[in-house]
Amino acid sequence: MTKITAAITAVGKYLPEYILTNAELETMVETNDEWIVSRTGIKERRILKGKGKGTSFMAIKAAEDLIQKANINPKEIELVIVATATPDMQAASTAAFVATKIGATEAFSFDQIAACSSFLYGISTASSYIESGRYKKVLLIGADMNSSMIDYTDRATCIIFGDGAGAVLFEPNTEGLGVQDEYLRSDGNGREFLQVAAGGSLLPPSEETVKNKQHFVHQDGRTVFKFAVSNMADVCVKILERNNLTNNDITWLAAHQANKRIIDATAKRIDLDASKVMMNIQKYGNTTSATLPLLLNDYESQLKKGDTIIFAAFGGGFTWGSIYLKWAY
Ligand code: UT7
Repeated sequence: MTKITAAITAVGKYLPEYILTNAELETMVETNDEWIVSRTGIKERRILKGKGKGTSFMAIKAAEDLIQKANINPKEIELVIVATATPDMQAASTAAFVATKIGATEAFSFDQIAACSSFLYGISTASSYIESGRYKKVLLIGADMNSSMIDYTDRATCIIFGDGAGAVLFEPNTEGLGVQDEYLRSDGNGREFLQVAAGGSLLPPSEETVKNKQHFVHQDGRTVFKFAVSNMADVCVKILERNNLTNNDITWLAAHQANKRIIDATAKRIDLDASKVMMNIQKYGNTTSATLPLLLNDYESQLKKGDTIIFAAFGGGFTWGSIYLKWAY
């Protein structure tokens, strides 16, 4: 029997119109363009404005972009996964709302929540459903409205994050293209270093949590940076070794866009030339679950069938890992 692999067959994206530049941030907090660019690589990020708009707004737009570009009937989609760290609501599934709004009325749906690794883990989930033969069209969307949990008086976090969404469609492939291997990890000892402390079951919302700014992202940047650099590089080395790949075999590195210095360090560790490293952090900042699908969108015109892509991500939890994929179109 021919082996079924899970291939990405279409991509779509949505970015809010509003551009928050480093120059505007200079008017909000004690910072400057030179510091932000040299420490993070970020020049601007997008912010979703407007009452009543949450993560689902961007997820729907990205999915509609994909559906229109790929010319597919949304009724053929069997599963919709929304990878996110900022769901619309605590209890009602964001994915269920998105699936209904895009017309995927024959699908079931769920959210996949793993901080900045949500989309990477989502690739694992989506591809498993395809490889098992159970479903033939799985839509994976990475969407985050980070501005909903950022304190715009905290210069340590407000300069990093942005809003956005990207979508990919997984379908079965019998040419050996698509997901080849994965190496995923997590370590709960990391949760104190990057978190939104309140609003969940551990610390429900109260006047005090609001007063203490505990609904905002808090991060010990230096510690997260250290773990991100070593762990992201380690998993890339591991996945290369396991698949007998050298740097010459890799066409692209698609790494989570959290900090240009982390991406550069990962590329250096596997001895990869900068021309093979996908990069768009300068335009969007850290969009959490949307960074990887936004990279695929931005680089789609340069991708060729059979290209070898190494995905890597690191995020809160801690959660991290690497996935090896062969591009299918
Ligand atoms: O996506 C999920 C995973 N997240 C990450 O991977 C993020 C990892 N961390 C980082 O990317 C970096 O740690 C940051 C970009 C957050 C910070 O860069 P850093 O080089 O680690 O800076 P730092 O926190 O060590 O701060 C260095 C200095 C400090 O001043 P002193 O104590 O040396 O006088 C900060 O107060 O820079 C100061 N600083 C700033 N200065 C201007 C911190 N933020 C700013 C700012 N503008 N926005």
